Amino acid sequence: MATAPLKYPSHWKKAKSEGRRISMATCYDFSMARLLSRSNVDVLLVGDSLGMVIQGQRSTVPVSLDQIIYHAEMVRRGAPEKFLLVDMPAGSYHASMESAVNNAMRIMKETGADALKLEGSSPYLVSVISRMVESGIPIMGHSGLTPQSVLTAGGYRVQGKTSDSAALLKEAALELQAAGCFGLLLELVEADVAKKLTEDLEIPTIGIGSGAGTTGQVLVFHDLLGLDPDFTPKHTKKYADLAPIIVEAMNQFAEEVEKGDFPSEQNSFYS
Ligand code: KIV
Repeated sequence: MATAPLKYPSHWKKAKSEGRRISMATCYDFSMARLLSRSNVDVLLVGDSLGMVIQGQRSTVPVSLDQIIYHAEMVRRGAPEKFLLVDMPAGSYHASMESAVNNAMRIMKETGADALKLEGSSPYLVSVISRMVESGIPIMGHSGLTPQSVLTAGGYRVQGKTSDSAALLKEAALELQAAGCFGLLLELVEADVAKKLTEDLEIPTIGIGSGAGTTGQVLVFHDLLGLDPDFTPKHTKKYADLAPIIVEAMNQFAEEVEKGDFPSEQNSFYS
């Protein structure tokens, strides 16, 4: 169902209070953005998952600031009207407050992003987020599983399964809200914990692998369209199964070229 676009971060709290559910999908280039701009998906995320999905890396860590900017510029050109959220890549906000704010400003100025997303909730990160918000940059937090620190976290595991870790998630969420985050992404959080966090917060939560109790949901474009024949994570749903369709189309093309059936007269130019 089409609803009013989320134009500013201030609209997010209102959306939550009205019981509206927010849909978000990752998007990495101009042609994907053009397609998504015709859809009712509320938010496009230039996620650092592009490291794995587009670059074929083993994690999101190798993605650089220049690469995120390159992809976000393309997405903005393809979907000028959509709410555009951009990930700050690993290492671009950790060295110092000054470099973090400078890098955040660079993304905002060069891409036309509406907001940025940062992973984690350490005291340093909370202070960085609050300085960015003071500088006029809307920030979404990202808690639960934080893939940029997957090595120190010991792998991709569901978070909040014990009462201690659920309490830590709640403390982190309240701190991120107090620092000025307009929303919080919850990745791989135990479903009841994610629901309770959503109830405890004023700001909306966007879940991935965190059950149905969050304010909204995000999925990776390639997962929801079935573009990777070898990968279907449990938390995702294939809304289309495009991989076999694409392979079949390419095979038809190859066969027609081999037989000399393509191009036909219709595809050719004559004087
Ligand atoms: O980079 C990404 O795709 C993400 C996911 C959690 C949606 O942040």
